[in-house]
Parts: sequence; C-alpha cells; structure tokens
Amino acid sequence: MSSSPGRKLVGRILAGFVVFVITCLFAAMTYEFIWGGSSGHQLTTLAPQGNFSKSIQDLVDPVFALGMVIGVAVIGVVGFIAFRFRDHGTDPDEFPVQLHGKTSFEIGWTALPALILAVVGVFTVLTLIDLNKPAPEALKVEVSGQQWWWGFHYDLNNDGNYQGDGDLTTATELVIPVGRTVELSVTSQDVIHSFWIPALNGKRDAVPGQHHPWKLEANTAGVYRGQCTEFCGLSHANMRMIVRAVPQDEYDAWVANQLKPAKKAEPGSEAAAGEALFKAQLCSSCHLIDGLTNDEVNNPKTGVTHQLQSGVAPNLTHLMTRGTFIGSIQNLYAGDNPDDPSVPADPQDPSIPGNPRTALTGGAIDESLINRPALESWIRNPVGLKPMSPVLDAAGLRRGMPNLGLSEVQIDQLVTYLTTLN
Ligand code: CUA
Repeated sequence: MSSSPGRKLVGRILAGFVVFVITCLFAAMTYEFIWGGSSGHQLTTLAPQGNFSKSIQDLVDPVFALGMVIGVAVIGVVGFIAFRFRDHGTDPDEFPVQLHGKTSFEIGWTALPALILAVVGVFTVLTLIDLNKPAPEALKVEVSGQQWWWGFHYDLNNDGNYQGDGDLTTATELVIPVGRTVELSVTSQDVIHSFWIPALNGKRDAVPGQHHPWKLEANTAGVYRGQCTEFCGLSHANMRMIVRAVPQDEYDAWVANQLKPAKKAEPGSEAAAGEALFKAQLCSSCHLIDGLTNDEVNNPKTGVTHQLQSGVAPNLTHLMTRGTFIGSIQNLYAGDNPDDPSVPADPQDPSIPGNPRTALTGGAIDESLINRPALESWIRNPVGLKPMSPVLDAAGLRRGMPNLGLSEVQIDQLVTYLTTLN
C-alpha cells in the first residue's frame, strides 16, 4: 500500500529535521573542539595548562578527529543509501538487491571497529598509567571534600602526616608553585564529592574513608577554577574551588605567612569587638583561627579532645589571603567592579577581582577593594547566598552555616575583624 502525499510530506519534514539537528550538533562540537579552548570558558577541558591535562588532551585530539571522520562517513553513507534507494512510490514490488550473508562485509565491519577501539584502548591505558604514577618528589597535599567546600592540608615536612606540626591547613583555594608536581590525596568527610580542576587534570572522586591519589601541575602562573562534579546535596553546584599557581618565591612567602598564627586585634578597636564576638558566638565552634581559639581545647593537631570543635568549617586564620569565599562562589575582593563583586574573575588575569594581590602573602590589604557587602550578607543570611540545611535534622546533623541572628552592629564588628585576617 503506497502512503498518502500528506504522510510523505510529514516524513520528509521529519527526515529534514533529523539531518538539521545532526548537522547542528556536529557544527557545535567542531566549533567547541577547535575554538573552545581559547574562548575563555573557565571550566573548559580543551585548554590544558599543565603536563597532566596536556597528556589527556593529546589523547583526546586524535580520538576526536578519528570520531569525526567516522561520524561523517557513517552519516554520509546512510544519507546516500537513504536517497539512492528511496521508495519512488511507483512499483510496490520495487526492492533493492539484498546483501544479507556477505561474509567479507560482516568480517570487515566487525574487525575494523574492533581494531580501532583496541588502538584507542592501548593509548588510553598508557595515559592512565602515566597519570597514576606516584611522584615521590612532589608537594603532598590532602584534599578533603565536605558539604560544601574543600579543605587543603599541606604535608610540608613530608612526614606522611598532613596535619602535624609544621604543616598547614587552608580552604577553598589551593596555592601551588608553578612547574612543581603536586600529589593530592583526595578524601571526603561526608558524602562522595569529586575534585576537578579541568585546566590541570581530570576528575578524581572524594570518597569518605578512602584516600585517592591524584596529581596537579601548572605550567604557567594563574588562577585555575574547579567545581565539584559529583552530586553531593543542596549546594553541590556551589562547591567550587581555585588553584592559584604562583612563582616559587611567592609560594614560599605564602607558606611562611600561612604558618603564622592569626593577627591579634588591637585592644579597644572594632576588630577586637569582632574578635570577642567570634569567640563568644557559635563561629568558633566550627571555624578554627590558629592562635585565637584556645589551643589546648581546640587543636586537632594535638589530638586533644576539644570542646570547641573545628575542621567542620573552613579554617579562617588567613582568610583574606584568599580571593574567594563561600565555596569560591563570592569574591573577597571587589576589584575594579565594586557594583557587581560577584562577577567571577577572569582566570588568567592576575590583576582581576577576586585576586588578593599583596594580601596573598600576608602583605597590605587594599581596604577599598574588600567585598564587605558579600561578607556582611553572608553572616546576615547565609542561606540567602547558598542553599543549605543549617538546622539540626532528625539524624542530628546540620549542613552549612547557621544564621546567628546578629545585630547590624555585631555584623560590622565581625566583618571588620575577619578582614584583618591576612
Ligand atoms: Cu561536593 Cu558536589
């Protein structure tokens, strides 16, 4: 039975639409593949900035090119056959010659893809082996995922303990020296997260109770953004992080400053009032500030049972040496655009908002650049900036920062104190 002209038309429109969609997809993929790396996307995987990400790119390039050739060939052949042997609607018995049972064809289209996949497989495994090689000379850092921020523990003295004497702890931003391999030990405090700095390497899952080795290396100084890539609850999308690659001397200065205890507030100052609030209010039950909170009861390094719990929120000892806070979703420094300090920084430009400049190594803070509005609104209404569940749930757990119900005067004092911590 031949189909009606109406159904034929619908079929042609549908076929045309499918061809149009496939062509668009190919065009988009080609565009992203060839030009995506230079188009400034912060999380592009196509602009490697380190040896490890480069080795992944060196694998992806030829495989993608091969895939494009095969894709074009298959679509071309299917399109040709569909056109060449289309139903002319004249002879109901018209039927093309059937090729069923052609042994040479069947061997060919089984063996060729198998061979291609085997070659791709060999190079993939070689790349994976290379990426997973231990690096004994590397800088060792434990990466700890937690709802919804990243903690970094540097084993500076290389004794296998990430939180011993002489080691340092920071959060949200990982500072590394340019050109040096950093060996990460990725873990989680609660649920499964995934650590991913696309410019420097692929992803590695952060699993509670496990320590997964991973490596980073940056060939040029810069700010490289990352994002948790395993769904981990309400603020998964807000669990971001930064790797700040700096020259060796700047890194050494950064380390020297990080090892110092927090600045004491000048007695009688607004900062001193904020410091007192920090201790009196719930801040100090989650956030550690080295040298402020009572070391005897609040030092995870000594293993002493402590009444003031810490490590469940970012260590704030040198808060202002970072460029971002709240899981790296807000800039601490407004930079050149104070009207919209939440605008993410250009990752490649060291002079942009979100960069702490001299504050990175404990130097002077340009107070006019501090993003006070974001700090204040974070304390005023944390859930307003980041979806969380800061109230105790049935399991006795809370996630995220609670609203402490502080007055505007108290918020001012607290922010003034926090902005002295560099
Ligand atoms: Cu952590 Cu998603």
